[in-house]
Amino acid sequence: MSRVPFVVGNWKLNKTIAEALALVTELKNQLAAVKGVQVGVAPTLVALPAVAKRLEGTPIATSAQDCFWESGGAWTGEVGPAQLLDAGATWAIVGHSERRQFFGDTNEGVGKKTRAALAAGLGAILCVGETLAERDGGRTLAVVEEQLAAGLAGVDAAWVPRLVVAYEPVWAIGTGRTATPAQAQEVHAHIRRRLADRLGAAAAETIRILYGGSVKPSNAEALIAEKDIDGSLVGGASLEAADFIAIVKAARGT
Ligand code: 13P
Repeated sequence: MSRVPFVVGNWKLNKTIAEALALVTELKNQLAAVKGVQVGVAPTLVALPAVAKRLEGTPIATSAQDCFWESGGAWTGEVGPAQLLDAGATWAIVGHSERRQFFGDTNEGVGKKTRAALAAGLGAILCVGETLAERDGGRTLAVVEEQLAAGLAGVDAAWVPRLVVAYEPVWAIGTGRTATPAQAQEVHAHIRRRLADRLGAAAAETIRILYGGSVKPSNAEALIAEKDIDGSLVGGASLEAADFIAIVKAARGT
């Protein structure tokens, strides 16, 4: 089964609208001829409508960085799937470790967000990953498995083509410390086994599992070469066109 690699830039809380537009214009021009890899960018919510508009008619997808589980009602500060689709997003990242760590996202809440995003027609990039203490305590696979089970609760088999999982070890995010390709592959293979248990072996073979955590041009190729690593979720290195383009090119045709 060949899965089309997917490389997504998570810009987090960075860039003004003008800076976001400058970056996507460069990506749009420089990636036009790059085939065999799917590309997405996740700008801040305020820049998202302008970015989505600028990318109209291109294969580069626009993703939100989060997605609430309701699309209406008294939920001050939240934005749901209907609003994201209306703004031009086609994907949403859910369960990012920064949301879990700093904004109280629970496994159960992440499951609700994943279901809501997929049910509304968005693609969902469900993030899982262990902390350093959990890894040192030998609990990596158990933690990831628990996050995955809760994140996928109620996910319908019909949504599988729009489901992506991202493995982001918390200790590798923004630290410059990347999981080795072998360390990442071990967890990716485990995730795929659990996806098979939950959604069936054939479906699991089609689901892209991205790696995230200090992905750079210098390590992108070795990571994507692993059997179960199907792309990357890039933070810091996605803020510079040249670095992000190099990472996209490293994923091409694998
Ligand atoms: P860095 O690439 O900056 O480590 O961030 C990874 C990440 O959290 C992407 O979602």
